[in-house]
This record gives sequence, C-alpha cells and structure tokens, in this order.
Amino acid sequence: MISHQMFLYYQEQPTVIALNLNRTHNGLYYFENQKYIEISAAKNIVNRQKIRELIANGVQHIFITRKDQNEITQQLIQQLRSNSRSLSVGNIEQNSRKQVNLITQTLGQFYQDSENNEALQLLYQASLNLTNLYKANQGLIVKNYQDIFKQNLPYYHKQPMQAALLITAFALSTKIFNEKEIENLFVVSLFKDMGLSKLSTKSLEEKKLSLIEKQIYHNHTVESVNLLQSRIPLNAPYYEIIRNHHYFHQLIDNPTSHNLKLLGIETTLVSLFDYLVYSTDPSSPETPLSMFEALQKAKDAISDQYPHEFKALILFLKNFLEQA
Ligand SMILES: [Fe+2]
Repeated sequence: MISHQMFLYYQEQPTVIALNLNRTHNGLYYFENQKYIEISAAKNIVNRQKIRELIANGVQHIFITRKDQNEITQQLIQQLRSNSRSLSVGNIEQNSRKQVNLITQTLGQFYQDSENNEALQLLYQASLNLTNLYKANQGLIVKNYQDIFKQNLPYYHKQPMQAALLITAFALSTKIFNEKEIENLFVVSLFKDMGLSKLSTKSLEEKKLSLIEKQIYHNHTVESVNLLQSRIPLNAPYYEIIRNHHYFHQLIDNPTSHNLKLLGIETTLVSLFDYLVYSTDPSSPETPLSMFEALQKAKDAISDQYPHEFKALILFLKNFLEQA
C-alpha cells in the first residue's frame, strides 16, 4: 500500500526532475481518485522527451517518492559544492548562472527537509562565494537575475533569490555598505522565508491554506529565525532583520503610523525589496503591480524618512531593469 507520506509533490517543474534525476528508484506518479498512478516505471530514464509526453497527456503534477527526493538533494549538493569551488575559474558568466540555479533549487529542496544541515551549511557558503564573485563582477547580477526570472520554478523558491540579487546589486551600486554587510544582505534576503518550509509547496502554490496553515504563514518570519538561529554564523541584528522582513508590507497599508528610522536602513531595504519582488512578479500569488505602481506605494511609505536612499533606489531600478 502506497501512503501519502511517501510522496512529494512537484508542481510544474518536471524539467527540474529531468535535469536532476536521470532515473528514479521508485518511478513517477500522478494522483487521481485518491490513488497514485504510476506513469513511468522505476529505473526508466527520465528525459525531456518523456516529460513532454506526460505534459501532452495532461499530467500537470508529478509525484516522486521521498527516497528519490533525497537522491535529488544529494545530487544538487554535489553539483553546488563542485560549482562553488570553481566559481571564478573559466567562464564566470556560465558559472554564476549555474550557481544561482543550483542555490535556488537546493533552497527548494531544503524547504522540504529543513533538518538537512549539510544543505543549509552549503547554501550559506555558496551564497558567500557568489557574493564575492559579484563584488568583482557587478555586471553578472543583471544577467543572472534575467535568467532566474525566466526559470519555471515554484514562486516561493525563486522569489528569495530574486530579492537577494536585487538588493546585492543595489548595495554594490550605492557603496554605503561594507563587504561583510553586502554578504549578509544577500544571505538574509535568501534565507528570510525558510520558515515557510513548515508548509507544503502544494498548499502554498495553490493558495489553499487551512486555518492552521494560515497561522503558520503569518508567523513564518519568526519561524525562519527559529529555524536558522545557532545553525549559521549570522550576528543577532540580522536575525532581527529576518524577523521584520514583512515590515514594508505593513507600512504600505498604513504609511504614516510607522517610523522606519527605528528599524534602520538594512531592515528597510530587505523588506522593501521583498515587497517589490513580491508585488511585481507575474507568478506572484497576488495580482501583480507594475514596478511603477509598486514604487509609487513605496514612495508614500519611505521617501520622507529616507529621501536620498529612495532617490538612489529609483535610479538604480531604472538602470537595472532597462538592462534586464
Ligand atoms: Fe516572507
């Protein structure tokens, strides 16, 4: 008897399975009438052609077993470790694109197994390697952003990477942060939603949250801190930034009742970029705004308290998005 717990849900990312899992140990399945139905037997080769056939036959959601998910995670970890080591050797544009993809996919796997300390440590180290590459090659960020923007990955897996890339490009362009602060801004933006790992990707993507799940969603900023504390070497103020990374969403609703200065520029920026990516991404669960509309809302909330930074932000985004 095949139980529900044995299976993992994958939405609309069959190509990711094809890239990372050449053969399944336990086959591919879809779910119909309360049953898992095998669509490709174990040990069969999973290639793009096979995936195309499944989509043509109307299969949208593919399931694999947890054993095969562990296999995917292990393969991703190996690839990410090896790419991190040789990031600045050879074609750095290709290496950085691969690094962004591998980090995003490993983050997605981590959401399904947040106890995996090996994956967490590697995500942290790989993020530092990537930001170090960006410090010397800022032009790579816009190319990597463009690439990840187009990837067919679950929204909740790629949103943190988009926010991390944007804030890093902005921080490098303004020169108001030192190198360590820039690394931390990337890490915090990438790791800020890890508390969502308490929820299934399926519930998140379909926006079908039970009352309890809604509560977990509401608390994910705190959950992210609980999950990370004492596992990665971040200083206490950065955990506070993670805890407050939805501050800007609240400000948009009520611009005059908060004092951003009390939170500091780093928190303001992390939550602002989180808001900008969240509210403008076409795959966002909410109806997306244009960047102009989102910035107009941001302006009401931020420009009185951080006029210079807001002006720098507008110039930066104009320049960055024109290239992207
Ligand atoms: Fe969040």
